[in-house]
Amino acid sequence: MFDCIGARDAYDDRGMDRNGISKHRKSLSVRAERAFGLESAVTISGQKPGLSASSPAAKTEAATALAREAATPALALNTVAPARVVARQVVVNLSEQSPLVPACALPLGFDAVPFAAPILPADEKRIVLQQLDATEVKACPKCRLCETRTNTVFGEGDVDAKIFFIGEGPGESEDLSGRPFVGRAGQLLTKMIEAMGLRREQVFIANIVKCRPPGNREPAPDEVAACTPYLLRQLEVVRPKVIVTLGKPSTQYMLRSKEAMGKMRGRWHEWRGIKLMPTYHPSYVLRSYTAEVRRTVWNDLQMVLSELGLPLPKRGEQ
Ligand code: URA
Ligand code: SF4
Repeated sequence: MFDCIGARDAYDDRGMDRNGISKHRKSLSVRAERAFGLESAVTISGQKPGLSASSPAAKTEAATALAREAATPALALNTVAPARVVARQVVVNLSEQSPLVPACALPLGFDAVPFAAPILPADEKRIVLQQLDATEVKACPKCRLCETRTNTVFGEGDVDAKIFFIGEGPGESEDLSGRPFVGRAGQLLTKMIEAMGLRREQVFIANIVKCRPPGNREPAPDEVAACTPYLLRQLEVVRPKVIVTLGKPSTQYMLRSKEAMGKMRGRWHEWRGIKLMPTYHPSYVLRSYTAEVRRTVWNDLQMVLSELGLPLPKRGEQ
């Protein structure tokens, strides 16, 4: 049996309406077991947080700030395109291509070096990510997956999210809609997030590859190498407190490990100064729908809540 979900404090620290909070709390009074049980359909809002349009004045201001920042090397390891430099390139000179460094070319020890660039205000984060998507990812030709995709799937969520989920790659529904985790596995992920007392819009969700691998096969190493510079920039911009990798491909990529999921999941790792918790992919949970697998994932997610100082759901709370 899973523990049960209870009311909790607002996760969003930017000030939410009090009525909004209590309404949210009410909606959280569901049992975790049910949340993982897929008994009811999940409605996913069509809203695309973090991708809102910005005024020309805001863009100019952000571009100036980014250009200033880019003039002083912010990262110790300048072989990796820092988000701010990339942002300057895309905002100031849209025709300029940003350097993309294959993951295999990253220097040894890279994973241990925290991001040095300052954290951007939310408005600038939105601009940087929107530009990255619009000017690079949407038309990206950097691997063979561009030939078979319908849409690229950049990722979505709160640019100030404390938790950043990393999946494997878009499936059919994601390829058709251009949004991450909206198919069956996505519905389960949404329930998992809600079971944690959060809304999907409060976290950030992305994948290691932005285009669907045909037949939902695992992305090939060269595809991962070509695509992950985008993910690294997303992480550098969002700067979450915790990364949750979903399944083997994203966990092995982030940890540069060949270990089995069973060995990696359920314990804390560190990636560039950010805590990283691997857990099973929701597709695996759907395939191996046993109480044990569900309890295991739930335990991993509870460790994330406790790391963030968020209250753990109490048994029996409705
Ligand atoms: N599986 C993934 O890994 N990512 C998605 O976006 C959807 C399904
Ligand atoms: Fe580009 Fe990534 Fe799509 Fe490959 S998977 S074409 S690298 S966006």
